[in-house]
Amino acid sequence: MRSIDEQGYHFEEWLTPKDIAADVQQVADRISADYKDKEPLFVVVLNGAFVFASDLIRALKDVRCEETFIRVSSYFGMATTGQLEFIVPLQQVVDQRDIIIVEDIVDTGLTIHQLKAHMRAHGAASVKVATMLFKPAKLEYEDAKPDYVGHEITEEFVIGYGLDFDGFMRNLDAIYKVKE
Ligand code: IMP
Repeated sequence: MRSIDEQGYHFEEWLTPKDIAADVQQVADRISADYKDKEPLFVVVLNGAFVFASDLIRALKDVRCEETFIRVSSYFGMATTGQLEFIVPLQQVVDQRDIIIVEDIVDTGLTIHQLKAHMRAHGAASVKVATMLFKPAKLEYEDAKPDYVGHEITEEFVIGYGLDFDGFMRNLDAIYKVKE
């Protein structure tokens, strides 16, 4: 089993590239079945989701789709106003579109909760969520429960395959879990 030491923490390989490929294909097959006669717009949440999104869209079968990218602030001091701070704003019209938000991991669900409201406010016909990882025990927003999940995880911190530790480690080909 591979391991990595980073900033005083020890991480061990949890999902191998082969495990990840199987998870991605399972998600892609479900989306392919559900969106056969639609033209979904994938809204990829930067930075972390770009690795998963890149594999996911290429594993789809017979889905005519578009992709766009957004980046939102992790500071939600504006939560009371329902406004998101977009660092990279939405470039595409979502009105009447079937949206699939793509995330690397859903943790408390705050990001997804806010993004879904934003998409609906802009007239999206439907909004679903695809995520590589989901931490159900930490979910605080019921409407943020993802529709398509690669793998569920308990509360441990993970890195790799798009997930970072202070901006680094996104390029690891596997997902590593922190060990005590
Ligand atoms: P949420 O809004 O609380 O669901 O947070 C989602 C975001 O938290 C993800 O897009 C990640 O950027 C970050 N995050 C949560 N858990 C982890 C983890 O275990 N490793 C790396 N990033 C994480």
